[in-house]
Amino acid sequence: MTAMPQLVAALHSFVGLAAVLVAFGTFRNHAAIGHLDSLLMAELAIGSFIGAITFTGSVIAFGKLQGVIGSAPLQFAGQHWLNLVLALAMLALGVHFFLTGGLLSFGLMTLLAFLLGVLLIVPIGGADMPVVVSMLNSYSGWAASATGFTLGNELLIITGALVGASGAILSYIMCRAMNRSIINVIFGGFGSDESAEAQQVPEGMTVKSAAPEDAAFMLENAGRVIVVPGYGMAVAQAQHAVAELYSLLDAAGVEMKFAIHPVAGRMPGHMNVLLAEADIPYDVVFEMEGINPEFPTTDVVLVIGANDVTNPAARTDKASPIYGMPILDVDRAHQVFFVKRSLKPGYAGVDNLLFYQDNCSLVFGDAKKVCEQLVQALS
Ligand code: TAP
Repeated sequence: MTAMPQLVAALHSFVGLAAVLVAFGTFRNHAAIGHLDSLLMAELAIGSFIGAITFTGSVIAFGKLQGVIGSAPLQFAGQHWLNLVLALAMLALGVHFFLTGGLLSFGLMTLLAFLLGVLLIVPIGGADMPVVVSMLNSYSGWAASATGFTLGNELLIITGALVGASGAILSYIMCRAMNRSIINVIFGGFGSDESAEAQQVPEGMTVKSAAPEDAAFMLENAGRVIVVPGYGMAVAQAQHAVAELYSLLDAAGVEMKFAIHPVAGRMPGHMNVLLAEADIPYDVVFEMEGINPEFPTTDVVLVIGANDVTNPAARTDKASPIYGMPILDVDRAHQVFFVKRSLKPGYAGVDNLLFYQDNCSLVFGDAKKVCEQLVQALS
């Protein structure tokens, strides 16, 4: 599950490359018999340049997500101007190809599109890669759709358009959930060292730690409990242990609910899928807007491998890169137990102010192991 974004990026690169190959193959066949009308050339140009950008962009996204290349944004002076000049040159070559049908302008246009794909994705930080993958998903759909026109294949046109539109909508939903614009994602360099430096740890404040047994005692004696799952639960594959915990507490008469942040984990719906896999009933799983008003009246919140989605800095610290992102109001509960392995920040590279609050205790350890220890203590 956690490697799914890079798999999807790799698959998009195949779609992009296929679009380029189909465009060149079609050009060759039609040029051989002298059948190159302007509509066909427009389709070839569009299919090829979207496909080429999708191909190299997806390869870079794959490399960043898989750790083959560094995930930090690679930025240099004049980068946006260079991209603009390349994009204009690519369009000019595309128009030249449309007007003359020349192989040279077609080839050069495609080469520039390959280069542009790399240059557009390298400055984007690792933290924004899931949005980029969804954006490339959209591009790959449009590339497939253009290929459908070239091949006269209606099924490809329709499925490509569906992928193109749904990828664009998904990118928009993700950006909205992080309170960022798509422009900010593309040009922001989020996840860079500078953004990590914006964090403000309250001076002289320390964190409290608790043993799983302490957390189990509080959970057992609570009336209302909310579990907040995050990326760490997915990495540790702790969902089945969490389901056991749910069964035990439910049987003990504790009201237990799950709170899902729209960008918890690394994919939309990531947490919902994991909880469903562990047979946790849908009616105890709540979206952020629905559950947020309940935190102030909740006795214990158990955060399992989530981090950024609970960080109150998003509400209070204007210098924080996650400022403005809607969060789960975990800090407003009576007591919070935070399960993670260390004090390391989450995906956005920002320290979590919640750790230093009086009502928060960290239960250090692998999410699966800690949940199993909770189950053991409770049973
Ligand atoms: P994160 O903020 O990434 O935090 C996950 C935490 O899990 C880390 O602090 C890590 O701390 C802990 N962890 C990792 N492995 C663990 C293990 N085996 N056991 C226990 N804990 C473990 O996760 P989140 O709160 O789910 O937030 C998601 C982030 O991804 C957000 O910043 C969001 O904007 C970004 N994002 C998500 C999406 C989608 S669609 N989901 C899209 C774009 C961006 P330790 O290393 O100390 O254990």
